[in-house]
Amino acid sequence: MTDFSSFPNTRMRRSRATSWSRNMVSETMLSPADLIWPLFITEGTSVEEPIAALPGVSRWSVDHIVACAEEAISLGIPCIALFPNTQADRRSDDGAEALNPDNLMCRAIRAIKAAHGDAIGVLTDVALDPYTAHGQDGLIDETGYVLNDETVAVLVDQAVNQADAGADIIAPSDMMDGRIGAIRKALEMNGHPNVQIMSYAAKYASAFYGPFRDAVGSRGLLKGDKKGYQMDPANSDEALREVAMDIAEGADSVMVKPGLPYLDIIRRVKDRFDIPVFAYQVSGEYAMIEAAATAGAGDRNALVLETLIAFKRAGCSGILSYHAAHAARLLRSGS
Ligand code: PBG
Repeated sequence: MTDFSSFPNTRMRRSRATSWSRNMVSETMLSPADLIWPLFITEGTSVEEPIAALPGVSRWSVDHIVACAEEAISLGIPCIALFPNTQADRRSDDGAEALNPDNLMCRAIRAIKAAHGDAIGVLTDVALDPYTAHGQDGLIDETGYVLNDETVAVLVDQAVNQADAGADIIAPSDMMDGRIGAIRKALEMNGHPNVQIMSYAAKYASAFYGPFRDAVGSRGLLKGDKKGYQMDPANSDEALREVAMDIAEGADSVMVKPGLPYLDIIRRVKDRFDIPVFAYQVSGEYAMIEAAATAGAGDRNALVLETLIAFKRAGCSGILSYHAAHAARLLRSGS
């Protein structure tokens, strides 16, 4: 006689046995519509400058950026994020170039919007670090301290400048207190009631931003660190306070940054608040995946897709990733 008591009641592997079944019970989906593609802009025409610290990522001149936007549209990516590499002679202690209606950022926004209109969203970063000679995100006093309220006054003008050029989503990445409310009011007063704000609400003082600072040319410039305004990686309750404040001040969506080391923060934010949450898989994370793949430690495509689905599982509505176009191609080809 067969002893049936030796069979497991439940076999978890049954639903894992075939790909149709795995697809059928899958709890999380990743699609190109979940991705935001960060792009770096540089001066000139027909320029592509590879970024050594980010293998496979380049700075593009405005004409090329318009083509990148077209590629994003054709891949089903809903939004691109722009970051300028400001010429050295246009950087200053007060970051005034951020307010120039003809700066690189504004020219890129106008060119993309002229070519593609509402076929794609354009997200723009608000912070002064690509424009300051000292590499900090705001105005500093003689001791190097980043001044809060004085900086917010400039960020407000920077945000309106970007919205005037046609930006769809303003994304303040500076971590000054009170900037979301101030920018929201200024957008309303300046005829931009439908321009969204995606707040970098929980942005940590992270070692993973190194390659980005190379990309926007601020690494060699930065004096000191950003721990006086970006969050301490040890903290989690504090992230919830940041998010609550930004929602109260009018944010349409919030971001957690960096990405993978902070999945717990994403989950806590998602469980607590009914607002779209985005993650920024930052430059150092991209570089780590590329280095691992190049060293043969893992399959590049599998690493990329596994990390991106992890953000969806943690509760994200979407992910900013330098792998966005590559991932969208993989997803469309069904791999
Ligand atoms: C600027 C800004 C940074 C990043 C996005 N916006 C750098 C920083 O805060 O020093 C980092 C993005 C990345 O590493 O990919 N405030």
